[in-house]
Amino acid sequence: MNSHICIEVVDNLEALSQRAAATIQLKASQSIKARDIFRLVLSGGSTPARTYELLAQTSIDWKRTQVFWGDERMVPPDNSQSNFGNASAALLDQIDIPQSNIFRMRGELEPEQAAQDYSQSIQRAFADDPIQFDLVILGLGTDGHTASLFPETAALEVQDRLVDANYVKSQKSWRLTFTFPTLAKSRQLLFLVSGESKARIVARVLRDQDTQLPSGRLLAEAQGEVTWLLDRAAARHLPASFLADWQ
Ligand code: 6PG
Repeated sequence: MNSHICIEVVDNLEALSQRAAATIQLKASQSIKARDIFRLVLSGGSTPARTYELLAQTSIDWKRTQVFWGDERMVPPDNSQSNFGNASAALLDQIDIPQSNIFRMRGELEPEQAAQDYSQSIQRAFADDPIQFDLVILGLGTDGHTASLFPETAALEVQDRLVDANYVKSQKSWRLTFTFPTLAKSRQLLFLVSGESKARIVARVLRDQDTQLPSGRLLAEAQGEVTWLLDRAAARHLPASFLADWQ
């Protein structure tokens, strides 16, 4: 496992959310100080919801922050499954951020068209800057997926595009997802993992370093900082001796 990984275990989801919001706020101020912009990528799923609420209470300079998504379901923004819709309710509708700083994956389009559309949006957002996101929030599924890079799906093999349309058989649905190269070159990946149901997969990814799992492979390929925020329930199968090496 590479040396730029940090694993932090906190008591519960509220503590994890507080820690995550503080981590993101710090990265925002560092990025804006260094490059006058902070490019943040949000995740879907339920774990980050409280973090998003807390981010709305921070002093992040949203006028110098661009917000993206690392994956999306193929639904319109007002659908309850929409990652954009859920993040808007918890965060974007609560802050003063220019609409031009929000880059929504257009889940209402056909999958391939949506993937091309978002890749072009990213290229426009970065203009002449190299495409490298400052901080990407990620979750972990019990099958080892992250973003919408699910096991045994075609997107795992895509190296030559920023965003892919990925049919996920286990979900019986299409998803949009950042590809491994896009995620791997980010300055910081921030995994937020909570709950007993994730304990076994966390052990396979972190203790066993199982690169057959999409999240395990990303961990091995990541070029920047990788921060894991776990609550005690999710970290249950990680030995104290192991954790001591990564805190
Ligand atoms: C999504 C997410 C997905 C999520 C994991 C964990 O669109 O669903 O991007 O990768 O992060 O499935 O989800 P929970 O946080 O709900 O456990």
